[in-house]
Amino acid sequence: MNLVFLGPPGAGKGTQAKRLSQERGFVHISTGDILRDAVSRGTPLGKKAKEYIDSGELVPDDLMIALIEEVLPEGRGVIFDGFPRTIPQADALDRLLEGKRQEIRWAILFDLDDEELIERLTGRRTCPSCGEVYHMTFKPPKKDEICDKCGSALIQRDDDREEVVKRRLEVYRRQTSPLIDYYDSKNKLIRLDAGRSIDEVYTDLLRFVDEEGH
Ligand code: AP5
Repeated sequence: MNLVFLGPPGAGKGTQAKRLSQERGFVHISTGDILRDAVSRGTPLGKKAKEYIDSGELVPDDLMIALIEEVLPEGRGVIFDGFPRTIPQADALDRLLEGKRQEIRWAILFDLDDEELIERLTGRRTCPSCGEVYHMTFKPPKKDEICDKCGSALIQRDDDREEVVKRRLEVYRRQTSPLIDYYDSKNKLIRLDAGRSIDEVYTDLLRFVDEEGH
């Protein structure tokens, strides 16, 4: 079963996708993580993407579609986290999957209001070594600003500064939110109240996935 995790920046898509893929064997494809890795390694893709990411804009569709084509695995359920983000990306994903006799089964919309999104993003800290994600209030590390898993110093993502966060929210409303109707019109949209605790959201998600049969 292939799932799209849809929703504004900071709604908790990555947090839930990581846990669900570990516990239920999905392949987790996070385009944000792939792009950040490309930026830190200075690859040609990373060089092209950096300016867009830092300013809160979307990386152009042709680059993103080529990237997804490259990483799409054979024969395993995927959680697409952060892709698609525009209608052309969604159309391209449908075509790519069709070519593999697969489809998107559900798009899960993580619903949350702007005020809470800003709090979640500005409090987020990430481990640059192992990728673990924390929140200084909602999911704090045991030792101040140090990763529980690997001991590295945590960092704040450049695009989590408040002025960039506001731009990312605008970009989401304008370019990504039309995907809500896109999946709804195909009867594939599930709305999830993302304003609850990490465990409450996860319990709901897990129940849904297990009922659907992965
Ligand atoms: P990307 O990395 O995909 O960022 P995003 O979609 O903006 O999502 P985030 O990672 O910010 O948030 P999230 O929903 O995963 O929240 P998280 O779980 O971390 O993209 C970054 C950039 O890359 C884009 O701006 C764009 O430039 C480019 N890009 C990527 N994909 C692209 C595409 N397809 N097309 C074009 N460009 C693309 O949680 C947030 C915080 O809240 C954490 O601190 C977490 O601990 C905490 N938290 C999570 N859940 C809860 C909860 N229930 N209660 C309390 N706290 C919680």
